[in-house]
Amino acid sequence: MSPQDVAKRQAAAAALAYLEPDALVGVGTGSTVNHFIDLLAERARVSNIRGAVSSSNATSERLRAIGVPVFDLNEVEGLSLYVDGADEANDRLHLIKGGGAALTREKIVAAASARFVCIVDESKCVDVLGKFPLPVEVIPMARAQVARELATFGGTPQWREGITTDNGNHILDIHGLKITDPVALENAINGITGVVCVGLFARRPADVLIVGGSSGTRVLTAR
Ligand code: A5P
Repeated sequence: MSPQDVAKRQAAAAALAYLEPDALVGVGTGSTVNHFIDLLAERARVSNIRGAVSSSNATSERLRAIGVPVFDLNEVEGLSLYVDGADEANDRLHLIKGGGAALTREKIVAAASARFVCIVDESKCVDVLGKFPLPVEVIPMARAQVARELATFGGTPQWREGITTDNGNHILDIHGLKITDPVALENAINGITGVVCVGLFARRPADVLIVGGSSGTRVLTAR
């Protein structure tokens, strides 16, 4: 396992402590969360949770493969915990997500959860968000129109060609941003007609950020 994978696994292992018996848990998408799912299976914790709401078809398949019942969000009252990775995180626990194109369902499941525990390796921590291209899910017929509007924010939107989201939409990645006011940018992009979701998680940041690194894990909580 690479040092980065070891760090991801450490962060995922630390997130197990937030699971309460009989919990309904939201589960995100990506390589870090895959470690979390593997650990759930390995440590026989599967029987301790009632089930999960998943943020992507890929995660649903993995959860079912280890015997975790996967519920539709409409069938449940709410979730006590959401565990997910991120592409970038700052020390206010604002995040960029969507590198795996699952941002919309991730944001919905995060919104439905009482506590959002984000698990990352050290490489994801930044002072200013934006080095990682900011993903925006768009309705396909609006893609070029939305790209022109996004360009007014100073970055360069690029169509992630060949990718269709689980919701049947397209992704634009905005390159070259320096996001000094994540809440304002999230609100502004949400206001563009044709945008389904932006991968900025600032209005609803993580509550806990677990960072895996060469010297173990550190835990940041929302200020
Ligand atoms: C999926 O769309 C993303 O939001 C992921 O949560 C994010 O890309 C983190 O992925 P890794 O854990 O694979 O780095």
